[in-house]
Amino acid sequence: MAAAIEVRDARPDDVAGLITLWGEMSIGAGHQRVLAAPTPESVRASIDRLGGDPAGRLVVGELDGHLSGMVYLRRTPISPLHAEDTMTVEYLHVTDRARRHGLGKALVAEAAAWAEHENCPYLGVVAPAVAREANRFLARLGLSQAAVLRFAATHTVRRRLAAEHAPNLLAMLSSRRSVIARRAQLGRHPGESADLSSPAEPESAGR
Ligand SMILES: CC(C)(COP(=O)(O)OP(=O)(O)OC[C@H]1O[C@@H](n2cnc3c(N)ncnc32)[C@H](O)[C@@H]1OP(=O)(O)O)[C@@H](O)C(=O)NCCC(=O)NCCS
Repeated sequence: MAAAIEVRDARPDDVAGLITLWGEMSIGAGHQRVLAAPTPESVRASIDRLGGDPAGRLVVGELDGHLSGMVYLRRTPISPLHAEDTMTVEYLHVTDRARRHGLGKALVAEAAAWAEHENCPYLGVVAPAVAREANRFLARLGLSQAAVLRFAATHTVRRRLAAEHAPNLLAMLSSRRSVIARRAQLGRHPGESADLSSPAEPESAGR
């Protein structure tokens, strides 16, 4: 007999099951490298928030009465320059033991049904590049690769940007050091002379 599949919006009593699904998915997709594990409080708050959000849904799938899959759906403008919306499908996951029973397709079908209901002409699914089987599954549903999503903590990007600008910063610091040395040679204290009171221009600036 075919397994019974039910797809519905997440409820507060799904908290523990959602944390388990997230944990499994993080290991496969590498999310744990950048995202801390959700807490029962954060999951409960998200379910509450999405309950009142007309543009977002957290959908779960049950197989024979067991919570076995999840997907996050968001309706967003397709671009800053178009009027149409796209349905973004993220964090699609079916637990190992429940796979190949049609639950993955039932979750994507829910995304497509909601997209049609909301007049979204496009569906975009975010899938980890490393998930080969999932990417094959999505390709068979007609979804082709359209972009690469890169992800990092904000402070990581800021640190890299700062490192890239370090040569300018070093030039400015070395210029300040030579101004102070020149002033010392003239027997003045730094900041005494009006013409040296403003920050010195880096020696390399504008040249
Ligand atoms: C990708 C994923 C969501 C698919 O979930 P799933 O529940 O196994 O999906 P389905 O059962 O609907 O379909 C999977 C395959 O099983 C087949 N299948 C469905 N019911 C079946 C049954 N009763 N007997 C045999 N095969 C069956 C489907 O036809 C499908 O085959 P296809 O890929 O050749 O089209 C799941 O494998 C997963 O969570 N992967 C890891 C997480 C991940 O990488 N997520 C990516 C984010 S998008």
